[in-house]
Amino acid sequence: MALTSGKQILEEAKKQGYAVGAYNVNNMEQIQAVVSAARATQSPVIIQTSIGALKYSDCTYLEYLIKAAIAKNQDIPIAVHLDHGNSLDFVVRAIELGFSSVMIDGSLMEDGKTASTYEYNVRITRSVVEYAHARGVSVEGEIGTIGGSEDSVGSEKISLTDPEEAKKFIDDTGVDFLAIAIGTSHGAYKFKGSINLAFDVLENIKNIIDIPIVLHGASSVPVELVSEINKHGGKMSSGATGIPTSSIQKAIKLGVSKINVDTDSRLAITATVRRILMEHPDKFDPRDYLGPARTALTNLIITKMQDFKTAGHAKDYVSKSLDDMKKLY
Ligand code: G3H
Ligand code: 13P
Ligand code: ZN
Repeated sequence: MALTSGKQILEEAKKQGYAVGAYNVNNMEQIQAVVSAARATQSPVIIQTSIGALKYSDCTYLEYLIKAAIAKNQDIPIAVHLDHGNSLDFVVRAIELGFSSVMIDGSLMEDGKTASTYEYNVRITRSVVEYAHARGVSVEGEIGTIGGSEDSVGSEKISLTDPEEAKKFIDDTGVDFLAIAIGTSHGAYKFKGSINLAFDVLENIKNIIDIPIVLHGASSVPVELVSEINKHGGKMSSGATGIPTSSIQKAIKLGVSKINVDTDSRLAITATVRRILMEHPDKFDPRDYLGPARTALTNLIITKMQDFKTAGHAKDYVSKSLDDMKKLY
């Protein structure tokens, strides 16, 4: 069985000291790239969708595309995760679609932009934990705020996670894994000046909490992809910077088990599509540029699976059903 709880996948990763990438998807080619890379490297994987992606696909299209990926890859543990859920209603919808894992981002209000209070965060997260655990579905919470802005999520301000508050939040809510803020942000422009991550905060958090830790805004924004985009008519500014792979690997050593990646996938696809359309202005069959974009994305994810040390762990354990997971809560 392939559909696996996020909790099982991440607890296995934490036990063995590797991390699992959670790759955002919006369409068929991205889903195919994620599972092809997982198959090629024999890696457990998390496919995740934002609320924006679900709305873009009318929910049902992504639901069935992801179900197809799972049906074809029964021997690989795959969690299907809602990224940055903003309300119990949306979480219920995702679970009805068949998701095995959800995030409730109560660090922000329902608009996905305004910072909330601790009390609000606990209240909404607890309501989601109660609903999801009764169905065997795992829950990611967030304490502290990640910066940056994308379609449906993004705070103007970063506020680093307070380790003591993180511990209290876990006790107050019962979440299965926790997103923390150590200076990363969403999108392609992560740092105004030099790259600055609070590894000391991560270490302090790791020393006092016992559940898997999640790093959002973890794309590397490879310079070669940015230059490829700009070489072929793009206009990304020189301020595009991400988290170097060495910093991601350091974060994994310090206890991060789930790494969220969206921007790098967007860059890999855009770089390929721009290049092909510029080099072959005669082409107009979407397969001529979406096929190579899918291959470029597969290769990017294969490299990440190797870098995060996820590769080779697909057969380490047998996936439990959500009914079995329900009994563990
Ligand atoms: O964390 C945000 C993800 O990258 C999703 O972005 O809301 O633009 O789909 P999106
Ligand atoms: P990036 O924008 O760095 O890819 O982060 C994605 C993310 O955190 C999704 O939740
Ligand atoms: Zn995020």
